[in-house]
Formats: sequence, C-alpha cells, structure tokens
Amino acid sequence: MNAPNRLVLLTLAIVLALAGCATPRPAPTLYEQFGAEPGLAALVDDLLERFADDPRVGVKFANTNIPRFRRLFIEHLCQIMDGPCTYTGDRLAEAHRGLSIDEGTFNAVVEHLIDAMDAQHIPTRAQNRLIAKLAAMRKDVIYK
Ligand code: HEM
Repeated sequence: MNAPNRLVLLTLAIVLALAGCATPRPAPTLYEQFGAEPGLAALVDDLLERFADDPRVGVKFANTNIPRFRRLFIEHLCQIMDGPCTYTGDRLAEAHRGLSIDEGTFNAVVEHLIDAMDAQHIPTRAQNRLIAKLAAMRKDVIYK
C-alpha cells in the first residue's frame, strides 16, 4: 500500500475511534449496579440469614414457603430495578395481608437490608435508590 493510501486509512481509523468515544454509553440500570441476577441472589440469601437470626422478623415467615419467597422476592427486586424480569407473585397488599407488620418490623427489615447491601458492597447511591423505591411501597406492606 502506498503512503497516501495508508494515511487515508489511518485518518479513517482515528475518526471512527473518536466517534466511538463520543457515543454516550447508556447509564447502568439499578439492576446492573446490584450485580444483575447473581448479585440479587447473593443479596437475598444474605438477607434471609439476617431474617432468620431476628425473631421480630423470623416469626412472620413461620408459615412461608421460603424457596418460593426467595424466587419471588428476587423477581420483584429485578423488576423494580428495571431488570429483565416480570414479577409473577401476588400483589404486595395481598402478600402481606394478615401478617400485621408494624412500623418497627418494617424498619427492622430495612436495617437488615442496609446491612446486607453493605456486606455485598453495593454502592451507597444505588442503595439509596432502592430504599426510596421500597419506602414508596410501605403502605402496601404495613398494617394489612
Ligand atoms: C417494601 C418492602 C417489602 C417488599 C417490596 C416486599 C416484597 C415481598 C414479595 C415480593 C413477596 C412475595 C409475594 C408472594 O408470595 O406472592 C413478599 C412476601 C412476604 N413478605 Fe414482604 N416485602 C416487603 C416488606 C416486608 C416486611 C417488612 C416483612 C416483615 C417481616 C415482610 C414479610 C413477608 C412475608 C412473611 C412474606 C411471605 C408471605 C407468605 O408466606 O405468603 N415483607 N414480600
């Protein structure tokens, strides 16, 4: 290849590379910030251990099919974090009916969630985004 042709190719390569840099990458979804499916599974497994160690929370799960709850809770988190999932469980108000969850128990669950997110090294900004989403669902969970 002669020198002028090489120069044309080189210029083209540089232009294409720069165009690639200029294309904005889509912001990661909250789901991605939590490590996608493996990250959510690890978080929920950590959380379930904390629930089992806290009688205030554990007592509410006495009659629960835990593998089913685990699957649906992960699915629900995935959906509200804009992940590639469709939640197939019951509406939250139905799922929590008869459990008589008060504010103290709700707050205890949120504290365990924060501890589990810290243990799983979830960035604080991502943690706060999830907590804000869950806080908006509080009315569907307590005093049902
Ligand atoms: C915003 C906060 C919460 C969310 C998003 C949430 C989400 C869910 C989901 C997705 C399910 C599965 C629904 C189904 O079985 O079809 C569930 C079930 C359940 N949740 Fe929650 N939950 C929240 C707070 C709480 C709190 C504070 C407690 C208190 C301990 C709690 C206790 C339970 C129990 C015991 C079940 C299983 C009920 C059953 O066995 O039928 N949840 N929750």
